[in-house]
Amino acid sequence: MSRSDLLIAPSILSADFSRLGEEVRAVDAAGADWIHLDVMDGHFVPNITFGPGVVKAIRGCSAKVFDVHLMIAPADPYLAAFAEAGADVITVHAEAGPHLDRSLQAIRGLGRKAGVSINPATPESAIEYVLDRVDLILVMTVNPGFGGQSFIGPQVEKIRRIRTMIGRRPILIEVDGGVSPETAGVVSGAGADVLVAGSAVFRGTGMADYAANIAAIRRAAGAVARSSAA
Ligand code: DX5
Ligand code: ZN
Repeated sequence: MSRSDLLIAPSILSADFSRLGEEVRAVDAAGADWIHLDVMDGHFVPNITFGPGVVKAIRGCSAKVFDVHLMIAPADPYLAAFAEAGADVITVHAEAGPHLDRSLQAIRGLGRKAGVSINPATPESAIEYVLDRVDLILVMTVNPGFGGQSFIGPQVEKIRRIRTMIGRRPILIEVDGGVSPETAGVVSGAGADVLVAGSAVFRGTGMADYAANIAAIRRAAGAVARSSAA
């Protein structure tokens, strides 16, 4: 079974930040389905990236879905700013605050798609009672903070369990961290709908290389059917 429904979301964390607008245009033209934007605060994660001002500045460089992954705590005070900056999907971490249910309601209240992410050490039970408030579940397959880390294999079982847990709810499963042609097949086979890839996409020098990298991930993901075990 091929996965024509599978989406690829390049993470601009691995782009050349000195030419960020150009890089977003290049990866858009290279066949990205979504653009994944990693926001880090140096507090929730040990790295700092960018805020809503940068999201707004590059919004005009692509009409594709802006998938904003907030690795910040607290997140609630900044949700409106990211919505105004042009985020289409806003994802908060279950570990980032005590009132996840409220954060997810706030995102939907801003008219955006609400995502929840869980770190590798967090069990899927952490999100069991917010399933009716989310449009997307982002499973971290590395510890958040940096691009280019190795995929944590046991997370594949978690993806499978989440696929079962969500049942018929219209929720997308997104997987982030260490996704490459080597890991895309198993991730797709476990039930992922959206694959985030940073270093595996922004390898090479521009649009043609990015297009080949995205195509290789897509091919690898399509090689394993959702129903089959990995
Ligand atoms: C990590 C970020 C990821 C990162 C993935 O904290 O959330 O989106 O860019 O990078 P790769 O694909 O290189 O593991
Ligand atoms: Zn991310």
